[in-house]
Amino acid sequence: MVDDMLAYLRQVRERPTWQPMPARVRATFQTPLPHSPQKPSEVYRDFQENVLPYPTGNIHPRFWGWVIGTGTPFGMLAELLAAGMNPNCGGFDQSATLVEHQVIDWMKEMLGYPAGASGLLVNGGSMANLVGLAVARRAKAELDVQRQGLQSVSRRMTLYSSEETHSSVVKAADILGLGSESLRRVAVHDDYSVNVDALVAAIETDRNAGLHPFCVIGNAGTINTGACDDLERLADLCEKEDLWLHVDGAFGALAALSPRLASQVKGMERADSVAFDLHKWMYMPYDVGCTLVRNEAIHRETFSLVPSYLAPAGRGISAGPTPFNAYGVELSRNFKALKVWMSLKEHGVDKYARLIEQNSDQARYLAELVESSRELELVAPVPLNVVCFRFVSPTLDERALNRLNEELLIRLQESGTAVVGPTKLRGKYCLRAAITNHRSRCEDFDLLIREVVALGRALLGEGFVGTEA
Ligand SMILES: Cc1ncc(COP(=O)(O)O)c(C=O)c1O
Repeated sequence: MVDDMLAYLRQVRERPTWQPMPARVRATFQTPLPHSPQKPSEVYRDFQENVLPYPTGNIHPRFWGWVIGTGTPFGMLAELLAAGMNPNCGGFDQSATLVEHQVIDWMKEMLGYPAGASGLLVNGGSMANLVGLAVARRAKAELDVQRQGLQSVSRRMTLYSSEETHSSVVKAADILGLGSESLRRVAVHDDYSVNVDALVAAIETDRNAGLHPFCVIGNAGTINTGACDDLERLADLCEKEDLWLHVDGAFGALAALSPRLASQVKGMERADSVAFDLHKWMYMPYDVGCTLVRNEAIHRETFSLVPSYLAPAGRGISAGPTPFNAYGVELSRNFKALKVWMSLKEHGVDKYARLIEQNSDQARYLAELVESSRELELVAPVPLNVVCFRFVSPTLDERALNRLNEELLIRLQESGTAVVGPTKLRGKYCLRAAITNHRSRCEDFDLLIREVVALGRALLGEGFVGTEA
């Protein structure tokens, strides 16, 4: 299996980025619960024939859909080792705990966070945002929110972000009982960064109405365009107004590693909490994200519950530092720290910085290709690694352009040549390339542009008129 998977990774460029699954294969997932054993060799063959050929495609050099990272061979092997050891990383005096503590220390150093901060590896940016915002709620509520709940607050708690902030933050506001409407989505400038004056005004309006503004969420790289909010200004504002500053840096936080890009996320190191992913712009295998919290005590108080069966001991397996389960939702946790620890040792952090710069250069290269074609339009600025563009023709109105680009995106995916994701910016349907891919080369973007133009022309030639979603 190891040899096969290494060969599979070696040959990734020769396969289509994605291919639809035939009905015959789809039907194999409808078979009933197995009651008696099958030979491992048969089960493995089933995997090879029906599972392996139909992935999302994100390990391919020409996959730039949504914001999905690529994974590495050594990361894959680290996952094998972690699963072989199979420790429970909720706590305990064991090597895995020390590995995760070291990883968290490295994360703090990478992002310029203070050594005394706490942190937790989680399964991704959504959970990382939830953990950070749970701590914010605990820290700023007018009462003991864990015991009394939000039902008892006298003033509705409100939080603020730009309208470009990721849906996981909306979900977190909902799950935390704050209500998604308590998250005020503030307008952005033309570069898609938050309009801080509008944000200040929204806070003041809510205060004057007797509500309780408690938190601002800043973006280090928005999902749509990679825009970074003015985090220095947000940090100043939060300090002055006694608000919690949480930064969603799912991929953009890692720009801090590059001396060339770091200025865009300046101020992030002053945040009360930061959420980011290692399975995006650090190319680690799924899944692994991270939350860092400046105030360790408040982080621990938010999640720590110690019944007798989890009580620490001075010696034995239950000894050791504060268990990780005291910093998050999960009690039992897997050993995701190992792939981070091994990957950082394998490559060194400087190489990650170079790869991040490479992806950012590729985004600029792609944007230049778009701008040099009369049949393409660059729809948004490209501050980091995200390029939003579309096929255009003077013969089509906006609605028809949206329909055409929507169909073009699907045909591109179905062609197996390259994958980009969708978004809509100010009413324009865009092809969105989010480049968190260490396997991409410049010629891959040349091919993408050739394909997009050819598909656009073909659709025009067909007189394509679809229905807008
Ligand atoms: C800015 C931003 N925040 C949060 C998330 C959610 O991260 P995850 O998919 O790892 O849960 C994403 C995912 O793309 C993102 O781009």
